[in-house]
Amino acid sequence: MLNSKSIRRDFPILSLRREDGKPLIYLDNAATTLKPRQVISAIIRYYERYTANVHRGLYRLAQEATSLYENAREAVAKFIKADSSEVVFTKNATEGVNIVAYGLNWEPGDEVVTTVMEHHSNLVPWQIIRDKFRVKLKFLDITDDGDLNVEDLTSLVSKHTKLLALNHVSNVLGTVNPVEKLIKLAHEHEVPVLIDAAQSVPHIPIDVRRLRCDFLVFSGHKMLGPTGIGVLYVNRDASDTLQPAFGGGEMISKVDLEKAEWNDMPWRFEPGTPNVAGAAGLAAAVEYLEKIGMDNVRRHEIQLTDLALKRLSDLESVVVYGPKRAENRCGLVAFNVKGVNSHDVALLLDELENIAVRSGLHCAEPLHRRLKAQSSVRASFYIYNILEEVEILCNTVEKIAGLL
Ligand code: ALA
Repeated sequence: MLNSKSIRRDFPILSLRREDGKPLIYLDNAATTLKPRQVISAIIRYYERYTANVHRGLYRLAQEATSLYENAREAVAKFIKADSSEVVFTKNATEGVNIVAYGLNWEPGDEVVTTVMEHHSNLVPWQIIRDKFRVKLKFLDITDDGDLNVEDLTSLVSKHTKLLALNHVSNVLGTVNPVEKLIKLAHEHEVPVLIDAAQSVPHIPIDVRRLRCDFLVFSGHKMLGPTGIGVLYVNRDASDTLQPAFGGGEMISKVDLEKAEWNDMPWRFEPGTPNVAGAAGLAAAVEYLEKIGMDNVRRHEIQLTDLALKRLSDLESVVVYGPKRAENRCGLVAFNVKGVNSHDVALLLDELENIAVRSGLHCAEPLHRRLKAQSSVRASFYIYNILEEVEILCNTVEKIAGLL
């Protein structure tokens, strides 16, 4: 099992106290996670010891910086069981989706199948592509419990389907989608699949070889890493279907005034100077998570989620969204206090107990419309959260429900 009490000592922010002495109860991990000293040190180390551009200079410092960057890629590739040539460093998950959206060769009449439970990052790029290239969008719906209607995929896929793009875990419902099954189904129709794994890679062991997805994206800052670094995994077999969306230095092998030839994978998708410090920080985050073990991370979050689900569902005045069982979700719970605006609940949680949660639409407006919810409050957990914090959250929600 994972020892949250000792893990907490690695996170400087958790030792801070508010003026009234209340510690921070940080439950906004689906938005971004806190950073341990090990990650902060790795970033500082690059700037203090290894600052140089990568893949360019022949002097020793440049070679060391390049090794640091490429070793970080190796570490991240190992974490998701990919080959390092399949790991493209991006700014974040959103950039990864856009690289795929702009890199595929669209023809008018092509279709993209996605779902009604997507974050805007895996919806708006497809709307732009639809309008630019006259592509059609189709949506998999959900059940009232927040599960995908998986069986509908067969009727949505046609000979025009160019891509299935869906999240592994919903950032509002917490639903863990049966992506392995969906990928298999899509591949039977020769449809490639992009997985938005922003909410799964930080929380569940991921093996891209087992998933057999074509593309997969995630962000570093949601898994203890710094902001400004993310990953686009491109399966080697799918790499030829994707053209570089952005051009510039380092992504080429040869350039003349008329044309350019692309560099090998993964560099052909990394034009310009990359985020070396970010990559070093992400590698430290991956190392930290590997030491804990992703199975332990998952088990710990199920425990916290189970308690939150039970306590919140017991409250008459609270509506909880998403699957009923903690095992079927990731570590987050979205809810509303009936008749109370989600922002008011979030502000009171902060005011009363120094609890940080997100409120509003969580960049998933169509999903809230589908749920007939104006907005929601979302508590999301990670390795440093403890059961006592979930108890305080639920007690305070109960108190707020009584007050308003
Ligand atoms: N995608 C992040 C969230 O769901 C920002 O909060």
